[in-house]
Amino acid sequence: MTSQTLREARKYEETSGKMISKEERPAFHLAPRTGWMNDPNGFSWYDGKYHLFYQYNPYESQWGPMHWGHAVSSDLLHWEYLPAALAPDETYDRDGCFSGSALALPDGRQLLMYTGVVRTRQENGGWNEVQTQCLAVGDGVDYVKYEHNPVLDETHVPDGGSRYDFRDPKMWQEEDGSYRCVVANRAADGSGQILLFSSADGFKWNFVKILSANRNRFGKMWECPDFFPLDGKWVLMTSPQDMLPSGFEYHNGNGTLCLIGDYDRETEAFRETADQSIDYGIDFYAPQTILTPDGRRVMIGWMQNWDTCNHRRKHDEAWFGQMSLPRELSLRNGRLYQKPIRELEEMRTNRVCYEKVDVSGEVRLEGISGRRIDMELTVRPEEGGSLYRKFSVRFAGNEQYYTSLSFRPGESVLKVDRKFSGSRRAIIHQRRSLVHHRNGELKLRIILDRFSVEVFVNDGEQVLTAVLYTDQEAEGISFLAEGTVSMDVTKYDLR
Ligand code: FRU
Repeated sequence: MTSQTLREARKYEETSGKMISKEERPAFHLAPRTGWMNDPNGFSWYDGKYHLFYQYNPYESQWGPMHWGHAVSSDLLHWEYLPAALAPDETYDRDGCFSGSALALPDGRQLLMYTGVVRTRQENGGWNEVQTQCLAVGDGVDYVKYEHNPVLDETHVPDGGSRYDFRDPKMWQEEDGSYRCVVANRAADGSGQILLFSSADGFKWNFVKILSANRNRFGKMWECPDFFPLDGKWVLMTSPQDMLPSGFEYHNGNGTLCLIGDYDRETEAFRETADQSIDYGIDFYAPQTILTPDGRRVMIGWMQNWDTCNHRRKHDEAWFGQMSLPRELSLRNGRLYQKPIRELEEMRTNRVCYEKVDVSGEVRLEGISGRRIDMELTVRPEEGGSLYRKFSVRFAGNEQYYTSLSFRPGESVLKVDRKFSGSRRAIIHQRRSLVHHRNGELKLRIILDRFSVEVFVNDGEQVLTAVLYTDQEAEGISFLAEGTVSMDVTKYDLR
């Protein structure tokens, strides 16, 4: 039943995954078992566990023939690898099993929906990829592709929609037991649109409507949509390609977009009321969400970006690509808030705490260092003093390297900068974001895990994510101020 292609991938990943030691991997962020990882796929709860699949090329630490890697977890932080779930082994997906989603069927089986890719020769000699949506059904380890695949193809796309950019289905079940899915598509105007489909049984799907059209507002093609209710509104997330920058909100290239709005279940119409970036750092893309059994909306993203993929070269390491921390979502004041999943707090140990430390010049604090830490900082002007000009925290530091966050209250700008993190590539290493502060008071929660930093600003109002491959010995942390800052800091190691 298992194809030769999948058997080979499973054999390969088993042997080669063993050659990568635990210390060479992130401690609590999922990285590929071996080779390359991009988007999270099939993020779901099934058979008493969280399942996370991912875009996967086991054979090289760069993008290639797309398989689905597979891992399970009971706390979303400690992951166990399972054998690869899908390989490109059928006529309708021979050039890749692209991104998709998963859900549990009423009969106890797990349903996967993914994009099957077939490269076709164009008249001018170039190549194009035909993309269709396909199903596979399984028991949480082994999956059988559906005999009537593909279930959605160009005949299901509205007029003018492209059959070459039609991908990344995200399914969910409605309260009445029926199913819906959103799929990304390129419209006649060259930019993205999100198509809504429905199904009574998860197998036969019908086009409902264009849920949202880009009309060239936010980049061009939209990838990896997700659509869900949150705190009385509905949220449409997508990852646009070819963005133009807009103030500090959106940056050039591949970005992330969150459209907040109202959804009329009768007419299935979505009306946008606000838009924002999802992550304001350097490395975040293609997020997908899950509703946990206890009712939390949790998001995980690819902690990387297509525009910075050459951060490491093919032969630098046996793996490339990581998932972000799982983040609990909520809406506050019309904005998307993100908090690290609360299970992380159970990994906290070795608490070190300082209150009202005056920082002026550079300060190091006894007990504050490390590369697997959870650190909370509050900074404000010293009592009765004037507003400071700049505050920075440097981490993953030694004599040679550091990465920094710096905040200039006069401009309300927070910058993440990994220029001196040891990278040898001329890619983007800095990003600035506008943040809110009250008279210079700013709250930061900084989470480090060997190869990454995630910064949660003002209790999750904004997040800045970046990967860093600095030598692990560089674990110094220091605080700097131009002017005087009064700082509270609490640091935990993450066990
Ligand atoms: C987004 C994406 C998806 C596609 C997948 C291919 O990162 O381009 O649209 O399904 O990656 O690996």
